[in-house]
Amino acid sequence: MSEIEYEPLSLDVDRLGRETIDAHIEQVRRLVDEHLSEPYSIYVYRFFLNNWPNLTVMAKHKGRVIGCIISKVEPHKHARIRGYIGMLAVDNEYRGRGIAKELISQSVDSMIETYHCDEIILETEVVNKAALRLYENFGFLRVKRLFRYYLNKHDAFRLILPVTEKSSVRSTFLPPLENAPESKY
Ligand SMILES: CC(C)(COP(=O)(O)OP(=O)(O)OC[C@H]1O[C@@H](n2cnc3c(N)ncnc32)[C@H](O)[C@@H]1OP(=O)(O)O)[C@@H](O)C(=O)NCCC(=O)NCCS
Repeated sequence: MSEIEYEPLSLDVDRLGRETIDAHIEQVRRLVDEHLSEPYSIYVYRFFLNNWPNLTVMAKHKGRVIGCIISKVEPHKHARIRGYIGMLAVDNEYRGRGIAKELISQSVDSMIETYHCDEIILETEVVNKAALRLYENFGFLRVKRLFRYYLNKHDAFRLILPVTEKSSVRSTFLPPLENAPESKY
């Protein structure tokens, strides 16, 4: 099989043109709709993709998007910078080749190096053994079980990857972040 290419989403119309950008967004939406149990509205995609386009990383094969990860970064309780991995999916025929590992690795690196995250969190279904194993091998830890978190009534585990020491200190004991307004959403 020819090379898989990894590329952050870009909304730069001058460089890519509207058609290419729309095609990327549509292919990312298709992937997530097809492989994740939770239905997301177009507004959810737009929220992630418009605000943090570089934190959506696509895996492409022969120009087609066959895997993606969608993340965001926001201040948490005025005390920490928190990254959040919202969605991750790889097409069936491309699974088991390390594509998800590479997508997570690129997203985590970018959240740490570009955004200086103190921690990165995500939720995944308690029954999703593949995802749990995948994230736990990156050092993510289970911190909470969320009862009936998903619309399909499955519970979720919240996982956290502590990056800096701030991640293990209660926000009450941390100095407020400078120049970092709390999330409005
Ligand atoms: C979970 C998912 C993203 C994995 O994608 P992938 O590209 O096949 O994963 P990789 O090849 O990078 O595998 C990395 C690791 O994940 C774990 N893993 C992947 N598939 C697995 C499976 N079927 N069973 C157990 N562990 C599995 C393994 O630890 C694997 O590492 P190893 O091969 O060194 O043992 C893919 O199965 C998927 O899209 N599933 C549906 C959507 C989903 O569950 N998303 C995550 C929700 S947060």
